[in-house]
Amino acid sequence: MIISASTDYRAAAKSKLPPFLFHYADGGAYAEHTLRHNVSDLSEIALRQRVLRNMSELNLETQLFNETLSMPVALAPVGLTGMFARRGEVQAARAAAAKGIPFTLSTVSVCPIEEVAPAINRPMWFQLYVLKDRGFMKNALERAKTAGVTTLVFTVDMPTPGARYRDAHSGMSGPNAAMRRMLQAMTHPQWAFDVGLMGRPHDLGNISTYRGNPTGLADYIGWLANNFDPSISWKDLEWIRDFWDGPMIIKGILDPEDAKDAVKFGADGIVVSNHGGRQLDGVLSSARAMPAIADAVKGDLKILADSGIRSGLDVVRMIALGADTVMLGRAFLYALAAAGEAGVSNLLDLFEKEMRVAMVLTGAKSISEISAESLVRELGR
Ligand SMILES: Cc1cc2nc3c(=O)[nH]c(=O)nc-3n(C[C@H](O)[C@H](O)[C@H](O)COP(=O)(O)O)c2cc1C
Repeated sequence: MIISASTDYRAAAKSKLPPFLFHYADGGAYAEHTLRHNVSDLSEIALRQRVLRNMSELNLETQLFNETLSMPVALAPVGLTGMFARRGEVQAARAAAAKGIPFTLSTVSVCPIEEVAPAINRPMWFQLYVLKDRGFMKNALERAKTAGVTTLVFTVDMPTPGARYRDAHSGMSGPNAAMRRMLQAMTHPQWAFDVGLMGRPHDLGNISTYRGNPTGLADYIGWLANNFDPSISWKDLEWIRDFWDGPMIIKGILDPEDAKDAVKFGADGIVVSNHGGRQLDGVLSSARAMPAIADAVKGDLKILADSGIRSGLDVVRMIALGADTVMLGRAFLYALAAAGEAGVSNLLDLFEKEMRVAMVLTGAKSISEISAESLVRELGR
């Protein structure tokens, strides 16, 4: 059944990618309960249809941290994007910049900051993980500043990686993983040539630039696994706040009390997120977490949200629940794997069209007019 452009691109990505990569993107933690609910909770929220309100002029633009976004959407940080298409971070960033929305480069991208930032005509966002190696964090922040990055997205919901059992089944990890990946690449020759061969080098570009001795991807993944820092607390973030003069967004907030702490800390924004259901299975979907967080902090900082957004209708729903802007993860990754930069551009155009239909038929002429009034209350919240 066709539900959305993301669904079609997901099917195309599935046939193009070696299974270890498709399942790395598509999977979540443990039994994938939260992963499923991210999508289903959002799609079940009923929009409130209104008619005959002269909706000939629509404005989808939104202002965020001194930037104008053509629509309230940004691309989320996705590690290893460069394994999904040739120099994939550059392709996705170009599509986002052409559409007039931000691209966020992951700490664990294949392409380093220095390759992506100059390839686009719009300031890039950069995502940083809390890692034990504070030397790396400082180095990455300095390089991000030098490259003209405007906004820092600080991800806090990965003090330890979630257990993703699909990765062990698919050959991403587990016994004989390297050999299984090689066999899968051989049976997907288009990917093997375009990305496997022509998309090299395959390492974590930001980390290899810091360490200065490029080796294989497996080495970096080992380095990363040993570097997540479960001791992190708000206090540890202060030096970053002092060091970074631009907007700072805390990504991975799911509780109103943590959202209030982010306000106290002086964050400019939060991302309401459960990491796309990839960390703690069983936590609330972002759609269900959002109303209480919006009640607690709306207006005190910018509220971004991700996890489960698969269509322009979902964007309108999440904004109606309280978000200022949303981020896309898998939705753009599937399109990138299926059709590269053109795929991401097409996906963003489709999101815009879907948003326009939703705005016309809920009677919202601008993003600020999308509100709880756009939802059928007793069903939607
Ligand atoms: C393959 C994959 C890799 C990801 N890597 C990162 C990452 O490096 N840093 C980060 O903050 N979030 C990462 N995320 C989480 C996304 O930024 C985002 O929160 C999530 O994808 C949103 O859920 P959705 O995919 O259902 O839209 C990753 C997600 C996926 C699917």
